[in-house]
Amino acid sequence: MRVAFVGKGGSGKSTIAALFAHSRILRTESVLAFDADINMHLPALLGIPAPEPTMHLSHAATATAIRSALMATNPRIESLKHFVKSTPPTRTSPRITSTDPTLLLPYLTGTQYLKVGVVGSYEEESIGASCYHNNLAILENILSHIDDRDGWVIADMVAGVDAFSNTLHAQFDILALIVEPTQRSIGVWTQYYALAQSAGVAEYVCVLGNKVRSDEDVALLKQSISDANLLGYIREDPAVRASDRSGSPLQSSALLPENMRLLEDLATRARASRAHETRTERLHALHRTYVAQTYIAERLGDLTHQIEEG
Ligand SMILES: Nc1ncnc2c1ncn2[C@@H]1O[C@H](COP(=O)(O)OP(=O)(O)O)[C@@H](O)[C@H]1O
Ligand SMILES: [Mg+2]
Repeated sequence: MRVAFVGKGGSGKSTIAALFAHSRILRTESVLAFDADINMHLPALLGIPAPEPTMHLSHAATATAIRSALMATNPRIESLKHFVKSTPPTRTSPRITSTDPTLLLPYLTGTQYLKVGVVGSYEEESIGASCYHNNLAILENILSHIDDRDGWVIADMVAGVDAFSNTLHAQFDILALIVEPTQRSIGVWTQYYALAQSAGVAEYVCVLGNKVRSDEDVALLKQSISDANLLGYIREDPAVRASDRSGSPLQSSALLPENMRLLEDLATRARASRAHETRTERLHALHRTYVAQTYIAERLGDLTHQIEEG
């Protein structure tokens, strides 16, 4: 199962991603988590060391090493430069799993059940000459090669609606949208939902209200968000505040019981998602669209043959 945590900056993406990951490992389920935010908080929130900057997935040498390993047994990729962000795997491509992420292990930190990779921020030489979207390409490549049937894949995403300019919106079973009971946060829901509808993934958007304090907060979320998409609410939680004050890792077991229950509901919703049934088809369509752009075709030729039909 794969869950992406999205929403406005400060809404609680990293907090809830970390709590969800923690709730899974408490049940001895394997978690492979990716911190894809420019502000990298996930390892600290989980109490594990952050990978060194040279181990960040988007670090040039690291990304090259990962792509080289992923394309090793794929006859449809001519060279590294032909490995674009939407390049799909073939039947012979290596797969990364939650319990056996061997190919990524040098770049992950964690414990037996929990492994965390950090996408990483700008590299010095790319400042002014690049943007964060380019850094996310390696995450797209990795997600395309993940087999998640044995555990959980979690991504703490960059704020906003960037996922629709690449394949990321199509890579998950659930897009967990964290929404605070404020007009601005609800504005992000409106924008996100409209884009998700256009992309055909609206049914996978699952809203978690967060930092809810009162009945008025609940009422605002209920009237603003469709029932089918609203999973429930996470109340402002003393345990989260305490961990924020002390800097100690988040513990899902210390949460208010109703908050803990909502994390279980999220796991249930993710298990029930049928996004995987159409994911390959959706990713192939996105690849066709991406490589049809003139600047790609002129530079790399026709890359539609990278899709293995059938
Ligand atoms: N349910 C909650 N109860 C109390 N504080 C919360 C809750 N969720 C998030 N916070 C606090 O809100 C702030 C922003 O959360 P964070 O997860 O860093 O947001 P994001 O990753 O979306 O930018 C942090 O100080 C965090 O501790
Ligand atoms: Mg964050």
